[in-house]
Amino acid sequence: MHTYVAGERNRFAQQLFRPLPQRYDRLAEALSMGQNGRWRRAMIDRIVPTSPATVLDVASGTAGVALQLSKRTSADIVGVDLTMEMLAQGRHNIAAAGQRNRVQLVAGRGEQLPFPDRTFDALTFTYLLRYVDDPQETLSELARVVKPGGAAASLEFFMPPNRFWRFMWWLYTRLLLPVAGLLTGGREWFRVGRFLGPNISGHYRKYPLSWTEEAWRQAGFEHVGVRVMSLGGGLVMWGTRRDD
Ligand SMILES: C[S@@+](CC[C@H](N)C(=O)[O-])C[C@H]1O[C@@H](n2cnc3c(N)ncnc32)[C@H](O)[C@@H]1O
Repeated sequence: MHTYVAGERNRFAQQLFRPLPQRYDRLAEALSMGQNGRWRRAMIDRIVPTSPATVLDVASGTAGVALQLSKRTSADIVGVDLTMEMLAQGRHNIAAAGQRNRVQLVAGRGEQLPFPDRTFDALTFTYLLRYVDDPQETLSELARVVKPGGAAASLEFFMPPNRFWRFMWWLYTRLLLPVAGLLTGGREWFRVGRFLGPNISGHYRKYPLSWTEEAWRQAGFEHVGVRVMSLGGGLVMWGTRRDD
């Protein structure tokens, strides 16, 4: 077992997500203009055909992805997240869905997973890489616990490549999102709404898509693919664990 050592960014993520769980599922859907569920399905579409017996879902939060995985595969699923409050809501959601025998949640960090090498048949992670200090190292850590030949898929926010849509996206994330967050979820969601746009732009300035694709390969994945969703608002990526 690894020691649990949270860094500055981990603490920031915990503070950001701590007040969100109760309204998370509804507001994540509303603030992504109904796209989050569609993006999630597109990500899970990459896992389903591989018929895994075990799946690890990192940054599992309130277990939305984990529960979709349990519905669409016959796998046993382990979700990992570092915010206890998100995990508590996730456990509630799992119990309400009658999936306690299939989905288990564990406290942990994507940077330092509490599992031996090559444990899982498949891997998913959502909205994780913007919250870690070193995305390349985290990708390698994620790859470490996947069996050779296992499928991996991820979902992230992205920025529209087209200039017109990027400008609309900029207006949406800088103006509408904070206001919509405030009106629907109060002060905590205003904070999230104000944080997201600049955080997404800053992330891709430092780690453009071409960098991220190469980082997946460096981490040990092959057949790396990318699908830009909703004009560029979302990004689904996938790959297969190489046998190194
Ligand atoms: C936007 S939420 C996504 C939750 C869920 N995957 C979904 O799509 O509904 C991001 C989650 O990442 C978690 N998180 C942030 N940094 C993390 C890290 N380094 N390791 C594990 N989880 C992390 C947060 O606690 C939060 O629950």
